[in-house]
Amino acid sequence: MKNTPINSEIVDKILKEIGLKQIGKASIREIKRLINWIEEESGEKFIRMEMGIPGLPAPKIAIEAEKAALDAGVAALYPDLDGLPILKKEIARFIFNYLNVEVAPLCCIPTVGSINAAYAIFMVVGRMNPKKDTVLFIDPGFPVHKQLVKMLGLKQENFDVYNHRGRKLKEKLESCLEKGNISTILYSNPNNPSWICFTAEELKIIGELATKYDVVVAEDLAYFAMDFRQDLSKPGVPPFQPTVASYTKNFVLLISASKAFSYAGQRIAMLAVSDLLFGLEQKGLLNYYSYSSVGHCLVHGTIYSTTAGPSHSAQYGIAALLKAINDGTYDFVKEIREYGERAKIVKKMFLDNGFRIVYDTDIDQPIADGFYFTIYYPGYTGEYLLKELLYYGISAISLSITGSERAEGLRACVSLIQRNQFEMLEERLQCFHENHPN
Ligand SMILES: Cc1ncc(COP(=O)(O)O)c(C=O)c1O
Repeated sequence: MKNTPINSEIVDKILKEIGLKQIGKASIREIKRLINWIEEESGEKFIRMEMGIPGLPAPKIAIEAEKAALDAGVAALYPDLDGLPILKKEIARFIFNYLNVEVAPLCCIPTVGSINAAYAIFMVVGRMNPKKDTVLFIDPGFPVHKQLVKMLGLKQENFDVYNHRGRKLKEKLESCLEKGNISTILYSNPNNPSWICFTAEELKIIGELATKYDVVVAEDLAYFAMDFRQDLSKPGVPPFQPTVASYTKNFVLLISASKAFSYAGQRIAMLAVSDLLFGLEQKGLLNYYSYSSVGHCLVHGTIYSTTAGPSHSAQYGIAALLKAINDGTYDFVKEIREYGERAKIVKKMFLDNGFRIVYDTDIDQPIADGFYFTIYYPGYTGEYLLKELLYYGISAISLSITGSERAEGLRACVSLIQRNQFEMLEERLQCFHENHPN
């Protein structure tokens, strides 16, 4: 038996007791539970790379504004369904300042996290036209979105974009859209899990085809402005966060506050719907709602009956934060740049110890350093690698649950790794490499 940082008997015993049939198919939360258990029994801390939790403190501006709102008594009152007017105004300003796209404040709606925004979009856009009953995922992607579509009884298709980058995307995407069954295309950019970032050429292809085939693009910007290869930090000054909204009017933008603003605990995000789509009347919606306008079905139909919007105080918190960002007095990108710096160091440690990056380029540029990166170890399956890394106190998730065709790969998240853990990570990776020479 090889000498490993975590007692292998404990790992084997827990793997047996927890009853996961295939660790490669385990959800992120199942892996989290498994690691918690091993940590508890072994007394050893893991290098936690499985879950995308913000590892930075929440901005004081937002917390203070929330406190002030609570002191002023907002906890007793329902917020407006479509959001506080000052928040809606600041969201529209933010979208203009950082994406160079105009969306009316009316069409900017706060939601309970971006997951609720995605739910509302699938629910409404997925029901506008009975012939368009399928959501297309440009993968790899966030597994929860696929779960939502399944729960809603909608169909889904997907393709891994790995072999369809650049100009090649057009042919692949068009082959999916020309069948006429797609209502919505969803992808995240920067991408969770692979951290690929679509180029302007690719976004233009997606936008133009969405217009041609009358499909709505749901662009998930959960990692807003986190392609640190460019300076996206200045309000109203190019370069802007690249977006499909520059190329089509059939868009919705899902902007989570969880990662970009380190505000995951307060469950708030921004949903921006193009003015055209918000005002669109679709008869198909009358089968599910009392009205046929997309905007009305989103706010008064879906958001009302699922969550009735995020908490009143969180809306005040984000409104104050956005105001400071829009006024140029708070640089949110500077705060989160730390993830890119951690990724650069950690990625090198993996590469120095025999690992390779799965999604390694944006066509002709090396992939950016950010929240996630993807790894494989030549000669091993993802399933085997994920399990084997447990003995070395390193946790990740398998790419096979993300719609990736690269089953050998794992996703590693840098957000929770502290700088004082770098030495331990390096030692563990060296030990892994010695025990698995390649
Ligand atoms: C791509 C993507 N979309 C959405 C979410 C969820 O965001 P929220 O916390 O705002 O619901 C995540 C969280 O990990 C994500 O990675």
